[in-house]
Amino acid sequence: MKVGVVGLGFVGLSLASVLGAKGYKVLGFDSDKSKSRMIKNGTAPFYEPELEYTLRSALKKGFTTIEELADIVNDCKLIFITVGTPQQRDGSIDLSLIKSVASQIGDLLKNTINKPIIIVKSTVVPGTTQNVLLPLLKKRSHKAPGRDFAVITNPEFLRESMAIEDTKKPHVVVLGGGSDGFMNMMKKFYHKLHSDAPIIITNSQTAEMIKYANNSFLATKISFINQISNICQSVPGANVEDVARTIGLDPRIGPLFLNAGPGYGGSCLPKDVKAMINFSNGIGIKPVLLDAVETINEHQLKILLSTIKKATSKICGKRITILGTSFKPDTDDIRDSVSIKLIELLLKHKVKVTIHDPKAIENTKKIFGNKIRYVDSIKDALKDSECAVIMTSWKEYTKINNDHLSPMRRKIIVDSRRLLAKSDLDARYFPIGIG
Ligand code: UGA
Repeated sequence: MKVGVVGLGFVGLSLASVLGAKGYKVLGFDSDKSKSRMIKNGTAPFYEPELEYTLRSALKKGFTTIEELADIVNDCKLIFITVGTPQQRDGSIDLSLIKSVASQIGDLLKNTINKPIIIVKSTVVPGTTQNVLLPLLKKRSHKAPGRDFAVITNPEFLRESMAIEDTKKPHVVVLGGGSDGFMNMMKKFYHKLHSDAPIIITNSQTAEMIKYANNSFLATKISFINQISNICQSVPGANVEDVARTIGLDPRIGPLFLNAGPGYGGSCLPKDVKAMINFSNGIGIKPVLLDAVETINEHQLKILLSTIKKATSKICGKRITILGTSFKPDTDDIRDSVSIKLIELLLKHKVKVTIHDPKAIENTKKIFGNKIRYVDSIKDALKDSECAVIMTSWKEYTKINNDHLSPMRRKIIVDSRRLLAKSDLDARYFPIGIG
């Protein structure tokens, strides 16, 4: 059985690579030709652990990139749509890419005898598959869903930096659509691929909602612990780390996603919370809790800035080193990274900024050009600095010692992740969440 993947970003490329490496015949399509060429040559367009290795193995076995979408629509029984649904100014999601793909697939369906299952993996708000994509496919193809083709909503839960592992072993598979032969085929496909994962079958609206509920809950956990962290920070001796570790032992709470920090970033949680808020307001439900989750998240940056100001007494004209610009470790992704927002704020305050990041320097250069200094080694990045701000939990930063700090002009560390809370450092130390 041939599988098509339309959109070779994090989700699509991980899926195509994992399936290809397992020996499935996979055709991958991306409208960005230069990206397609890189992938064809075995180079991943972004850093993701294990991706390139898996991609190369897939290219040797069953994965081919193609130039014409028609090859997928004519040949593939399963067509995964994995294009982006970026955020718009008002918080809603931009459906133009996915609508364009659905229109093109619809046009091609018209002239094929193939009866594929079109699987929507892109994150879309409840009702999108039913009210937007299905009618578009029907109109363009002049064919009947459930008979000539099917559309199944299948949200993705993979984490960046763990994309390959999560694609190989998802904690759940969610399938939204009609209960017919197409759904049975999809269920069998996933059961064979991930025999251990529970498969939840529901309608498409609920599947779409599950994705948003999942990410909104994760964001809620983070904002909750960040609020507790802020309270701790104002209580001398109180430590959010011990609070989080202990409440995490209660099985009703669980230990994960309780790391207080500078706020959640990345291409998903901020966008999905905003989209849920926008969607909810649009249908007349005031999303009071999610509004608070977002407010707390935005407030974290202000708290961080005031901690930096307090630590350095005056920031204007000083050199400050930012350790970590990626939104989390083991990725070069800086989309919606809190660190980038902090650098923007510092530049407004006329701070001279030096940055270090093990993987994200090139992406950071695309934003700031020659406005800031980029340095490859931690020690060199700290040279002449009057304050180091740890923003990302890269493993490297947990090993910072007095030798690294020696070239600093003033030894001040603001640690938004408490990585050095237990280290014996000859420095003034300001951790977030410890009073
Ligand atoms: C998130 C979800 O975790 C995935 O399940 C989902 O599939 C993905 O979005 C998506 O919708 O595509 P991801 O964006 O890769 O994954 O990143 P997370 O690991 O969730 O981290 C997001 C942000 O929260 C990061 O800035 C991280 O530093 C922050 N975070 C996370 C905390 O501040 N504290 C925590 O305890 C956990």
